This record gives sequence, C-alpha cells and structure tokens, in this order.
Amino acid sequence: MTEPSIFIHKHILGIKELSPQDIHHIITTARSFREISNRPIKKVPTLRGKTVVNLFLEPSTRTRLSFEIAAKRMSADTFNLSGSSSSTRKGETLIDTARNIQAMNPDVIIMRHGRSGAPHLLGRYVDCSIINAGDGAHEHPSQALLDAMTILDHKQSLAGLKIAIVGDIAHSRVAHSNIFSFTKLGAQVCLAGPATFMPADITSLGAHVCTSVGEAVTGADVVMALRIQIERQHDPLIPSLREYAVHYGINRALLKLAKPDVLVMHPGPINRGVEMNPDVADGPWSVILDQVTNGVAVRMALLYLVLGGDKSA
Ligand code: CP
Repeated sequence: MTEPSIFIHKHILGIKELSPQDIHHIITTARSFREISNRPIKKVPTLRGKTVVNLFLEPSTRTRLSFEIAAKRMSADTFNLSGSSSSTRKGETLIDTARNIQAMNPDVIIMRHGRSGAPHLLGRYVDCSIINAGDGAHEHPSQALLDAMTILDHKQSLAGLKIAIVGDIAHSRVAHSNIFSFTKLGAQVCLAGPATFMPADITSLGAHVCTSVGEAVTGADVVMALRIQIERQHDPLIPSLREYAVHYGINRALLKLAKPDVLVMHPGPINRGVEMNPDVADGPWSVILDQVTNGVAVRMALLYLVLGGDKSA
C-alpha cells in the first residue's frame, strides 16, 4: 500500500523537518486512503482504540473539520477543545492545559495556536504525538502537504514548475510551509505582494521575490493567492482592500499571462473580490475544492503515520 521506507517522525511540527522522501511518502499514503471517502460506508478500523484530541485555540473550518473527519473515518475516538470553550479563557496556561490533556492519555494532539512555536512547546510536556495544525505565522504543514498532493494530481512532478504565491507572505504560515515544501520538491517559487507583506529575509528560504504580480504570474504553472491576515496586523499595512484588489487581486486578465493549463489555488478562507475574483475562484483553472478534498486524505495519512501505521504494516 505504501512505499517501502518507514516513517520515523513522532510529531509533525513543520515541513522544514521533513525530507522530500517523507513528503512523497505522506502523499503516497494519502492517495491510498483517498478512496475510503468515496465508499458507501466511509470507515475503516485502522485506528480503532486510538484517542485523538483536536486542540484548536484559533478559528478553523477546513483544518479542524477535516482532521476530525479523517480520524473518524479511521475509527479513532475524537475529542474537540476550542479556545472559546477551554479553560485557557479562565487564564490556564498552555503548559497546564497540555499536562491536563496528557493526564487523560491521548495518542495524538492536533493543535492550532496563534503563537509561533506553541506546538513545539507542547511537545516538551506530553508523551503523545503532536500535529501542528497551524502556529501563528510559522508553519501549517498539513496544508502544504495537501497543496503538493493537489498539484501532483495534475502534474507529473513539481521539479521545474514555476509556482507563484501572491499576497500576505509575512503573516502566512501557509506561505512558509509551501515555500519549504515546493522548493524541497524542486519547484521555483516566485512571490509577489506589497513590500509591507514581504519579509526581508524570505529569499533565504529559497524563494524569489518578484517586483510585480505580473512578473510572478507570467509563465506560471500554479498561481496561489493568500488571504490578508488582518488578525495578525497590529497596524494596517496596506492603504485599503480596494487598492490591494486592483494591484494584487488575481483576475482573468492576469491569468492570461500564466501557462494555459495553470492551476489556481487558495488555502481558504477566500476574501472574494480582494485577493481573488469570484470568476477565477470558481473558474476552470480552480482546484480550490480539490485542495479541501485532499485535506481529508492527507490528514488520514498523517494520523496513520505518526501512530506507527508503517511499523505495523
Ligand atoms: N486553510 C485553512 O487552514 O483553513 P481553516 O483556517 O479554515 O482551517
């Protein structure tokens, strides 16, 4: 079912820690699980008896729901704790929260947190596996894995592809994880966005910074737009959303500069009419909902692999 290599990672904290072989192994495993979601009975016993805690201290629709669906389709027991309903609201620290969850002996904690490094901190206080479901502006590894899987559904390989990522790079954990993933798999990553959204050291990650969105999109195999992360900006970094849409919004005219078979991607949630026009988001180039579908399969694979599925195969 999977490649012969054994997956050795107890935690999934970021793409930075994964090798290209790990990434391909996760995607191959995800592909083997994908058809389970199309069966009349969408359930296999693979993770029966395992306990999965979803600890989401920031809002989420796609990531939280798809991790829960993934765990349930593999027969794990899932439990959800959100920021609004947890005792963190009463002042309990993250470390105390982690110790109390550990005392209930889960097998894996899936964590989203507004602060970069929070899942790494949690890992020092619990024995179970941790999967980072997005930490601040740092990393969102499962998103990058489902993005690579979606591209590989349409392209033989990422090697040599030009991938344009447009928008709020500085505040985007998706951008950071995807730069790591796409460059590890051999793609050329071209970034575009307002200067205030571009970290000075981003080229050290191997991405190329373009002077205009037109330069980034010209000849691109993939165009990915990112949401402006208003919640992570203390002061406004752009004059207005209307002006941003004019200069950086992905529209049909801009897509004419890309390859004819360009894939249009967005991690969601989309601000329609800001970073992407609705006719582009819903057009023939768009694989945005395929990203969401693949998210369930990738998260099934991650749960299976961190819980030692390879070793028991
Ligand atoms: N792509 C993504 O992380 O979406 P959610 O915030 O809805 O989980």
